[in-house]
Amino acid sequence: MTSRKNQPSASSPSGSCTEAAPGFRAIGATPYLSPVPAVLVGCGDPQRGMRSNLITVAWTGICCSHPPMLSISLRKERHSHGLIERTREFTVNLANEDLLRPLDYCGVKSGRDHSKFEILGLTAIPAPPLTHAPALGESPAFLCCRVKDILPLGSHDLFLADILRVCVQERYFTPSGSIDEQAMKLVGYVHGKYRALGGELGFFGFSIAGREALLRRMPGGSK
Ligand SMILES: Cc1cc2nc3c(=O)[nH]c(=O)nc-3n(C[C@H](O)[C@H](O)[C@H](O)COP(=O)(O)O)c2cc1C
Repeated sequence: MTSRKNQPSASSPSGSCTEAAPGFRAIGATPYLSPVPAVLVGCGDPQRGMRSNLITVAWTGICCSHPPMLSISLRKERHSHGLIERTREFTVNLANEDLLRPLDYCGVKSGRDHSKFEILGLTAIPAPPLTHAPALGESPAFLCCRVKDILPLGSHDLFLADILRVCVQERYFTPSGSIDEQAMKLVGYVHGKYRALGGELGFFGFSIAGREALLRRMPGGSK
């Protein structure tokens, strides 16, 4: 739970209005979006024999389907910021419950002076077509990304990137060839806490789907 006191003044430090609609309490202008993913971003260090680094990133998201693109936002002081700025590539490795400790550790320790891969006993694997950034062998799936643009926003620089390839661990494919995301046990991030994802509630378009599709695809049958 996030505790916030009511803010009596009319404007927050950023100058935004804190007056709320009836029944709501304004908590200022904050990055309060949730749930968001927390991912392990892999990058390579060309100055140290391509030593690999991992950084935990929550400020990430898909921003275009065709061409497939995503963004990550990094503070300038992160070691990974410099590496990605130089190599212009990174991997986004999805995090699951088995990777929870590494996910947190890579978000509180810098790779500037030591290898997080070594300390955590994790496996850096090639991520073609990228040449510098490794992927995380233990991740259920990873996206290979090439930086297209870097936008300075304020506290963070946004790295806008093309998704060049996506790889999913064999074990998550069903015999029919679909991907069992439920089996991945992915985690979400909600205001400073890591959260397990609950069961499936519905599917894209279920609200207007026909009875046959609902019976076939809806968890627990028609709704
Ligand atoms: C859950 C979580 C999410 C984070 N999200 C971001 C983020 O989106 N952007 C960022 O710059 N730092 C973020 N951080 C902080 C970095 O991961 C942290 O400073 C890390 O130690 C930097 O590693 P590096 O110096 O090896 O690059 C996050 C940390 C945690 C624990």
